[in-house]
Amino acid sequence: MNLIGKKIVLGICGGIAAYKTPILVRRLRQAGAEVQVVMTRAATSFVTPTSIAAVSGRAPRDDLFDLQAEASMGHIELARWADCVLIAPATAHLLGQLAGGLASDLLTTLCLATRCPVMLFPAMNNVMWESRPVQANVQRLSEFGYHIFQPDSGEQACGETGPGRLPEPEDITPHVISFLNTSRMLAGLRVLITAGPTREAIDPVRFISNHSSGKQGYAFAEAALDLGADVTLVSGPVALPPPKGAHVIQVQSAEQMLSAVLSKLNSTDVFIGVAAVADYRPKEVHEQKIKRVEQGLDAIPLVANPDIIATVASSPHRPRLVIGFAAETQNTIANAEAKLIRKKLDAIIVNDVADKRIGFNGDNNAATLITATGRKFFDQRPKHWLARDLLLELSSRLTGGLAPTNPLYP
Ligand code: C5P
Repeated sequence: MNLIGKKIVLGICGGIAAYKTPILVRRLRQAGAEVQVVMTRAATSFVTPTSIAAVSGRAPRDDLFDLQAEASMGHIELARWADCVLIAPATAHLLGQLAGGLASDLLTTLCLATRCPVMLFPAMNNVMWESRPVQANVQRLSEFGYHIFQPDSGEQACGETGPGRLPEPEDITPHVISFLNTSRMLAGLRVLITAGPTREAIDPVRFISNHSSGKQGYAFAEAALDLGADVTLVSGPVALPPPKGAHVIQVQSAEQMLSAVLSKLNSTDVFIGVAAVADYRPKEVHEQKIKRVEQGLDAIPLVANPDIIATVASSPHRPRLVIGFAAETQNTIANAEAKLIRKKLDAIIVNDVADKRIGFNGDNNAATLITATGRKFFDQRPKHWLARDLLLELSSRLTGGLAPTNPLYP
């Protein structure tokens, strides 16, 4: 009964999996929720409004221009009423409409008009699910802040086998419970994140840097903001817009990044070092541009940069959680475990950047979370999605000591 008092708008689209929704409505109500169903026109071909009305105890809504409903509970009122909009099944068509910002019927209009979280449970043929347009829409939607859940794999109504099945109502309901009870999981916590590469000047026009795009660090900042945290982002030079609501400190070099981080350490509960900090910097920065010489340049002497995360983890002002990132190209897990210990971290998130489908510049990532007590693999998904899943995992596994300061979970 963990949904007591929660108001859920359940959107049903026209896919074969809609046959599972009357049971889903019952499960949500059994958990204590009030459920108002909104159906697309096509959904009414798969499940009747009469059965939905019977199980939900409310007439389902399907018409944006229903005068009677507009007069009583218009789409705006419905958008304000809901604690969460849950769409199951979400068809390829609906994902495309939402990704394009369309408001062509009651359900899509509602999604644009609401400030509450929108959870999408896509279900469709596995080839459709894996198609590039659908995956691009999923990526876009997750960047917009929609919460998308992976479809189940298995035998499908069309006879094919693969990912695309709507999870069973018994499995969707716990997701909704944990989502609604964790949606402000990090409220009251101050999270400091480093992101992007650093640039180490050689002379006024040249520098040493790396391929980090900053996407994963920015995704962490956005996911932490979504979960209610107070976020400071110390960012190296990247081509990304600052996350709305984050306090952003722009830096260039590792030394600047370290001093920005240290200036915030007193007021940080959780530190997440996602930045790809250059390990070395030129020993001296030439005042003038180094001239080309025919015999070539033998060497640029380098010195080691400070290890920012190790400094943070050993500081007297150590935050309660210090989480590192490791991009590895070989012996992925063993190298990351060694770093966890050497740098005195609470957790390290490692990804294999030799795998071209994930990592530096891509929009997707897969990672293994390693703590002193175990490992968990998160398979490939959009970076925003991965960040949220990792933060939820970390807050439930590592925050024995964090929960008490969270005002929502006294
Ligand atoms: O040793 P390596 O660079 O692989 O470690 C990666 C982790 O250490 C990341 O969390 C990164 O942000 C952090 N780091 C750091 N300062 C450095 C080098 C790495 O904070 N100089």
